[in-house]
Amino acid sequence: MKPVAPPQTYRVKSFGCQMNVYDGERMAELLGARGIVPAPEGEDADLVILNTCHIREKAAEKVYSDIGRLVFAGKQAGKPPLIAVAGCVAQAEGEEIMKRAPAVSIVVGPQAYHRLPEMLEKAAKGERATDTEMPAIAKFDALPARAKRGPTAFLTVQEGCDKFCTYCVVPYTRGAEIARPFKGLIAEAERLVEAGAKEIMLLGQNVNAWAGEDDKGRRVGLAGLIHTLAKIDGLERIRYTTSHPNDMEDALIAAHGEVDKLMPYLHLPVQSGSDRVLKAMNRQHTADSYLKIIEKFRAVRPDIAIAGDFIVGFPGETEAEFEDTLRIVDEVRYAACFSFKYSPRPGTPAATMENQIAPEEMANRLQRLQSRLAEQQYAFNQASVGKTCKVLVERTGRDPGQWLGKSPWLQSVHFEGDHAIGDLVEVTLAEAGPVSLRGVVPAPV
Ligand code: 5AD
Ligand code: SF4
Repeated sequence: MKPVAPPQTYRVKSFGCQMNVYDGERMAELLGARGIVPAPEGEDADLVILNTCHIREKAAEKVYSDIGRLVFAGKQAGKPPLIAVAGCVAQAEGEEIMKRAPAVSIVVGPQAYHRLPEMLEKAAKGERATDTEMPAIAKFDALPARAKRGPTAFLTVQEGCDKFCTYCVVPYTRGAEIARPFKGLIAEAERLVEAGAKEIMLLGQNVNAWAGEDDKGRRVGLAGLIHTLAKIDGLERIRYTTSHPNDMEDALIAAHGEVDKLMPYLHLPVQSGSDRVLKAMNRQHTADSYLKIIEKFRAVRPDIAIAGDFIVGFPGETEAEFEDTLRIVDEVRYAACFSFKYSPRPGTPAATMENQIAPEEMANRLQRLQSRLAEQQYAFNQASVGKTCKVLVERTGRDPGQWLGKSPWLQSVHFEGDHAIGDLVEVTLAEAGPVSLRGVVPAPV
């Protein structure tokens, strides 16, 4: 590769989960600390980082077509950008990317991106650089302070996964479970709040597996961290995602009854309602043990919104087993969900299992599941009508004078009035739609 001038502008394109969004923000901060600024809207960037996701279908193909588009646009403009591939596809297929895409200068895995500046120096000299090592935790110590962002901030507390569900690439791309130490997390949260965050979303592939030593040297789980975070002045809301049923500690459930700032929302994937399928998925829980956890949450916080993830068409899933999934959906009554067709991920045990389900059957099951989930979401929204709650304003709405924000139950609410982004506005939920609600600000008495 030819040497190039060091980049002055960047663009980070993050795909996939919120963890990737967090990583994208941290990469941006790292570049910002070196004087590299975001490319203005509509202009080409000198450096483009594709922060990729590998969890479902065609991830790698999408990366190659994005690279192709960037190369084409660069040729047209007479100035090819430096291209870096980050995220889980970089981790899983780094070498392959370097072979197949000569236009890529940098391949950097999710645990190595703190070394991006050195890699950029190499790239400017015309050398290609790959770093997909997984040094536990080093990344967080090497990153600069948090920059100002919107009212909701992400904070990665835990990364990686030791569960090895048979369909999932995460244990291979993100590595073993690691928990960031308590002190650094509190410090990062305080900085986020100083920078204007009102809400912190604690992130982890198995966020409720987080454990550490608190400021008094006690061993605590996520609940302990949440209790301490709740003491930060100016922080109004705490959320966490994603949890695994087997890591659920009673203290976390109890925290929903003790900590006002902890929002009444739980994302707890079940994936399937069939015990045979759950076993084949190596989920290590049953439909019943999952339902018991939900019951415990509801005993403490009856209004809690439950969200989940589902996979339809796992290898060997019969019609009766799929119906078990519909049954668990009916029992839980979800507020919002993510559901997917099973997608064989290279290198995972399920990819080579027999009885892969035909695409038409998968599509049919997904459609039936999604229509049931949509009904439930609508019902949940309708049941909220008449409630008065605080809405955290995230942005302006479509119409002039309109604002958009989130209710405590993570519903999108739009309303009018004289407000600003970051305000917590008391709103009465007046009308429900399938995916959002209209709120009215009560007149002052
Ligand atoms: N196929 C389909 N969905 C998957 N997920 C993870 N791996 C796969 C796969 N191979 C889904 C799970 C998980 C969510 C993040 O993505 O539902 O909870
Ligand atoms: Fe993947 Fe299962 Fe780990 Fe979730 S718990 S990241 S689905 S292996």
